[in-house]
Amino acid sequence: MSETIDLAEPDETASAAVESTHAPRKVFIKTYGCQMNVYDSTRMEDALAADGYVPAASMEDADLILLNTCHIREKAAEKVYSELGRIRALKDDRRTTGRPVTLGVTGCVAQAEGEEIIVRAPVVDLVVGPQTYHRLPQIVARARRGEAIVDTEYAPEDKFDHLPHARATRIRSRGVTAFLTVQEGCDKFCTFCVVPYTRGSEVSRTAATIIDEAKRLVDAGVREITLLGQNVNAWHGEGVDGRQWGLGELLFALAELPGLDRLRYTTSHPIDMDDRLIAAHRDLDRLMPYLHLPVQSGSDRILKAMNRSHTAADYLRVVERVRQARPDIAMSGDFIVGFPGESERDFADTLEIVRTVGYAGAFSFKYSPRPGTPGATMDDQVPGDVAGERLARLQALLNDQQHRFNEACVGKTFDVLLEKPGRRPGQIIGRSPWLQSVIISTQDHDIGDLVEAKITAAGPNSLSATLTGRNTSA
Ligand code: SAH
Ligand code: SF4
Ligand code: F3S
Repeated sequence: MSETIDLAEPDETASAAVESTHAPRKVFIKTYGCQMNVYDSTRMEDALAADGYVPAASMEDADLILLNTCHIREKAAEKVYSELGRIRALKDDRRTTGRPVTLGVTGCVAQAEGEEIIVRAPVVDLVVGPQTYHRLPQIVARARRGEAIVDTEYAPEDKFDHLPHARATRIRSRGVTAFLTVQEGCDKFCTFCVVPYTRGSEVSRTAATIIDEAKRLVDAGVREITLLGQNVNAWHGEGVDGRQWGLGELLFALAELPGLDRLRYTTSHPIDMDDRLIAAHRDLDRLMPYLHLPVQSGSDRILKAMNRSHTAADYLRVVERVRQARPDIAMSGDFIVGFPGESERDFADTLEIVRTVGYAGAFSFKYSPRPGTPGATMDDQVPGDVAGERLARLQALLNDQQHRFNEACVGKTFDVLLEKPGRRPGQIIGRSPWLQSVIISTQDHDIGDLVEAKITAAGPNSLSATLTGRNTSA
């Protein structure tokens, strides 16, 4: 593929051409890991749609199965191999039916392990890393002819310039919220983390292509966009005014798009929270008051060993500045317990920083040594049971903070974006500005409406609300 294929509506032509000769081939993508993988799976689906593939309802119904994998912790990577074991039986069965299945591994395990995957699991036909998804249709075609293919190159061309745009009907079928990758890769090299090796060095997409993609999403009915990057706030590039922009400017520009009600971004690094980004939180109503800002540990000694390039006090200063700019902002974070050398004292510092910040939500993990990272060979690895016991204590504190945050919402009135039908008839599930699920009973509103709601009850994972009668869409 040498140029961008634009499949804007009218959009039936590509698959119709294939359908006229034989039934369209079907692809099933199983996604593991982070939101960027979720986004990548949609882009792969779009690339394959341009080649006549339609989504399959299940693995059993597919001609092509892709596992879009995650390498961040050992458990995530091992899941792939147990899934491949299960698929082997399916593939054997299908060989006898005259409708063979092609099986591919994509994503971060593909990038990290390359052809090792085929050595360990010969059932796999193709292995494709995140930087070459634009070549996927050709790779799949070759694999269907019987070639085993491994492509984990960092392609010299920008894949985003070569991936086809989604059709509006396909965007609509995915709902009213969407992810949009603006930055990929990482140059920070935290000593526990595989991402710099699996996603490569930091690359920012241009402001013009991001704004163009955002417009397409909004035109197709998307009401909320989450900008994605491994270090999303390290995004930078030439703006549409010719000046050098950072993420703050980009958010100011996107907030001008008519019909886009909500903006979010994730994941941020504390050292890249600059003044303009903080000003965006102060000035933009459409930028949701929720910030995911991982700190990993509250101990300066451990932060240093992790190569995080900030101290606990630096992190607290950033939180303080963001809160001054946007007093209703809620914080979320990531934590690792049991990093090599972590003492009970270091862990106490982590509990302390959690108490000081007060989180509305968080992800916390037991340290998992990853091959090729400096942390894996450090002395003083913490025994699994010690780390497990610390994790339980940390999670009890974080859960307690989350419950208290939810309970404090009862009686308050705020906007809820209606996202999907609830379990019971007449119920719609929406999201609060702070990412909480909100269950509302209503016959008068549709998915995609932004409505004002009063919170009547709080559970551990969701809120219940009644409508105040105001529709507040942009
Ligand atoms: N780019 C983001 C997050 C990357 S991975 C950032 O810089 O914050 C998401 C989270 O997984 C990390 O924030 C970290 O908390 C966790 N993580 C990464 N490597 C890990 C490892 N080896 N063991 C346990 N948790 C890990
Ligand atoms: Fe991993 Fe650190 Fe980069 Fe985040 S900043 S992706 S944790 S190396
Ligand atoms: Fe996993 Fe790769 Fe995301 S390792 S967390 S899928 S960037």
